[in-house]
Amino acid sequence: MKNFTNVHDIGPLDAAVREALEIKKDRFAFTGLGRNKTLLMIFFNSSLRTRLSTQKAAMNLGMNVIVLDVNQGAWKLETERGVIMDGDKAEHLLEAIPVMGCYADIIGVRSFAGLRDKAEDYEERVISQFIKYSGRPVFSMEAATRHPLQSFADLITIEEFKTKERPKVVMTWAPHPKALPQAVPNSFAEWMNATDYEFVITHPEGYELDPAFVGGAKVEYDQKKALEGADFVYAKNWSAFADPNYGKVLSTDRAWTVDAEKMALTDNAFFMHCLPVRRNMIVTDDVIESERSIVIPEAANREISAQVVIKRLLESL
Ligand code: CP
Repeated sequence: MKNFTNVHDIGPLDAAVREALEIKKDRFAFTGLGRNKTLLMIFFNSSLRTRLSTQKAAMNLGMNVIVLDVNQGAWKLETERGVIMDGDKAEHLLEAIPVMGCYADIIGVRSFAGLRDKAEDYEERVISQFIKYSGRPVFSMEAATRHPLQSFADLITIEEFKTKERPKVVMTWAPHPKALPQAVPNSFAEWMNATDYEFVITHPEGYELDPAFVGGAKVEYDQKKALEGADFVYAKNWSAFADPNYGKVLSTDRAWTVDAEKMALTDNAFFMHCLPVRRNMIVTDDVIESERSIVIPEAANREISAQVVIKRLLESL
């Protein structure tokens, strides 16, 4: 694997999940692989899980790790070519990226959507430039349109907890006070569509995702109907994708909050969320604290998904 930005980069999912479960049995089996190799983790945005789990995964593989928070202590970076740099941005990404490549064997990048310009977000300007100019294998730690390390961890978690060969997985929009990118729901849809699960997406009118990610998933606007018989409920907020409302919050209707009454419609479903989660907006306290909530094992699997990805990138050096 040369880079990792989407589901297609990982190859057959059954093999990837098998490898993940093997690594989980002995996460120190490949400590020699990363010896004298350096992972550089670049954060343009905040993180708790991605930062800790990815660093831990690299350390399990014997790597050295450097973490750079671009907005804390680095020069402010210009990302657009052709700009006259007479403002507060002291360095251009086009120099910064190859320089970073000099100090690293593998680079992880987190760079969220700006939610101002759909075309700019959906062309993945930042991570694409890292792939083009760093001279190193690059993996996404959440980019503008996808969060593949999260989706891979979600898949591993569903495989571990499922009791049916073909579970019903429902991704439901839920309210949030601020505009969030579509990266997590896009990516989850992309990965679920690559399985043979029954996959349903439910959201209010106006929150339709990019059809390229929805693919063959069933879209059901009635949340209660969508949840009937679900085996897994994956809650997530996202802002509007469709023009002219791209990046906007259209609703904070708490009738969409996942509560015990909604979970009672399911087939005793497991509750999932990528975290961080706004309690009593996205999900009620009792649901996230219930024995069917698997948000913590889901987060724990972030270490495993990252380790499979970094291992495969190391093997291709
Ligand atoms: N789920 C996830 O990516 O969490 P962080 O934003 O804390 O890394």
